[in-house]
Amino acid sequence: MKTLVPPGVYAPQEDTDLLVGALWDEPLPDGAAVLDVGTGSGALAIEAARRGTRVTAVDVSWRAVCAARLNARLARLPVHIRHGNLFGPVRGQSFDLILANPPYVPTPESDRAPHGAARSWDAGLDGRLVLDRICREAPALLRPGGVLLVVHSALSCPDRTLAHLRGAGLKASVTRRRVIPFGPVLRSREGWLRERNLVAAADPREELVVVRAEVPV
Ligand SMILES: C[S@@+](CC[C@H](N)C(=O)[O-])C[C@H]1O[C@@H](n2cnc3c(N)ncnc32)[C@H](O)[C@@H]1O
Repeated sequence: MKTLVPPGVYAPQEDTDLLVGALWDEPLPDGAAVLDVGTGSGALAIEAARRGTRVTAVDVSWRAVCAARLNARLARLPVHIRHGNLFGPVRGQSFDLILANPPYVPTPESDRAPHGAARSWDAGLDGRLVLDRICREAPALLRPGGVLLVVHSALSCPDRTLAHLRGAGLKASVTRRRVIPFGPVLRSREGWLRERNLVAAADPREELVVVRAEVPV
């Protein structure tokens, strides 16, 4: 099923699709507890609910929360969708699987925090504004044997994601990669990315990676 995507809500893209593939690789028992953080239109949450899991989804954008609720209802799947900042609404809970497709695009400095639709992609100078919080906070929410699947760009330093998660005692590796042409957001800041030596080629492309991190049993 295609999700309905109102203006201002992130339309599922290559990163969503890469994470859906990684989700299907996970052997999830019926009733497993899944969290989709930064759910957008709810595409990942709905995909997880199709597997018979108990899914909670969170987004900081009310538009996204409303879209995800509508899409879950249309799919006739029970997804518990909460408004809030990252793990705030699920504090005290624990999960077998956490899915995250956070904002991760390196963004020129500004005195304003990301707002509007750009909250889906703008992520500070190094692209790690939300990623670093996920690496810091997600491990404590995972059950023994629990897994974090997080997708982001190679422009936002997957080695740091791996180092953070390994430092927290998780077994972490890159399990999926896909190279795609620059989309409109990266094209609009290509000059700035070149100045920062993040892009060199004449035909700029971006590599997306999925990091899988598992808590030892
Ligand atoms: C790249 S979009 C991904 C949407 C969807 N998961 C997908 O894969 O299609 C990132 C989403 O994270 C949400 N987001 C950004 N910062 C957040 C935060 N601090 N807490 C919760 N959600 C956040 C945005 O509103 C947006 O819906």
